[in-house]
Amino acid sequence: MRTLVTGANGLLGSVVVETLLGQGFDVVGGYHTDPPQFDTPLHEVDITDSERVATLIDDYEIDTVVNCAAFTDVDGCETSPELANKVNGVAPGVIAEVCAERDIDFVHYSTDYVFAGDSDERYTEDGETGPVQEYGASKLAGEDSVRDADSDALILRLSFVYGARGDTGELTGFPQWVASTLAAGDDVPLFTDQQFTPSRAGHVAETMVSLLEAGATGTFHVASRSCVTPYEFGEEICALIDGDDRLVGSSSMSDLNREAARPQNSCLDVSKVEEELGRPQPTLTDDLEELEGAFSDYMS
Ligand SMILES: NC(=O)c1ccc[n+]([C@@H]2O[C@H](COP(=O)([O-])OP(=O)(O)OC[C@H]3O[C@@H](n4cnc5c(N)ncnc54)[C@H](OP(=O)(O)O)[C@@H]3O)[C@@H](O)[C@H]2O)c1
Repeated sequence: MRTLVTGANGLLGSVVVETLLGQGFDVVGGYHTDPPQFDTPLHEVDITDSERVATLIDDYEIDTVVNCAAFTDVDGCETSPELANKVNGVAPGVIAEVCAERDIDFVHYSTDYVFAGDSDERYTEDGETGPVQEYGASKLAGEDSVRDADSDALILRLSFVYGARGDTGELTGFPQWVASTLAAGDDVPLFTDQQFTPSRAGHVAETMVSLLEAGATGTFHVASRSCVTPYEFGEEICALIDGDDRLVGSSSMSDLNREAARPQNSCLDVSKVEEELGRPQPTLTDDLEELEGAFSDYMS
């Protein structure tokens, strides 16, 4: 496999590059503003510039494009819906068309935020969509544009992506914030009124490779089996670092004044990917154990 990974300096992108390199594949990384730290060809690529993407595909004889690039600032998308639609809605479809014309594989990442989150049931791949904010609407438009352009594309919907960066091994985002705050002896207020199925970036990348090797196409939910609140997620992190669980406090989404609404329960049903690959998806506890080394700076 000779792969072009766009968004290679993002959390997921860096982990996808590291995973592919680790499995012996040739990788070209496309980054937006700052380059990641990999010993592999790296090029500045804005995914809205499809000619640039096509040139890289042809120059490197790429056979698989993995699009990890997206405008992921949920509140930023609310105030810049045109940019959200350009990057998340239109560009993925144009890249899918470039791939379809060349008969090469295209992998695209989407989100649980395509759902309204007002159901108690887990969402299956063919569940009714209904985004409640511009980010989800733009990502749903992206799914549709990819499907229209390339019926063989692989679309993986994720939920609350977390992990350690692929190039530096550095823990980022929610787990880093929770662990560092607890390690400093400060309170961590966490929502008890939101639920999702966290996707560990490393497992997502491995699952993507397995799906490509299995020749899978279409839409799959790739997330953990555990449907949890941020509060429950924080409790697990606290246990992992042997922190003081009295510091884990509860809060509500309504405590924050944010531009964009969030779905209340966007837990994904993962049985389709489990059946396709003949193995279970991990639980949150399994995933956190895999990441244990990245928490070493915060252990009590
Ligand atoms: N994070 C989550 O909780 C979550 C949940 C569900 C699904 N997802 C999906 O998972 C995928 C990866 O997300 P992530 O968590 O890795 O996000 P991330 O860390 O924010 O990475 C996104 C990357 O895309 C790049 N980018 C933004 N605009 C671009 C453009 N026009 N052209 C090229 N690159 C551009 C960003 O670069 P700059 O920073 O330099 O702009 C960044 O490196 C996305 O499709 C996202 O929608 C994420």
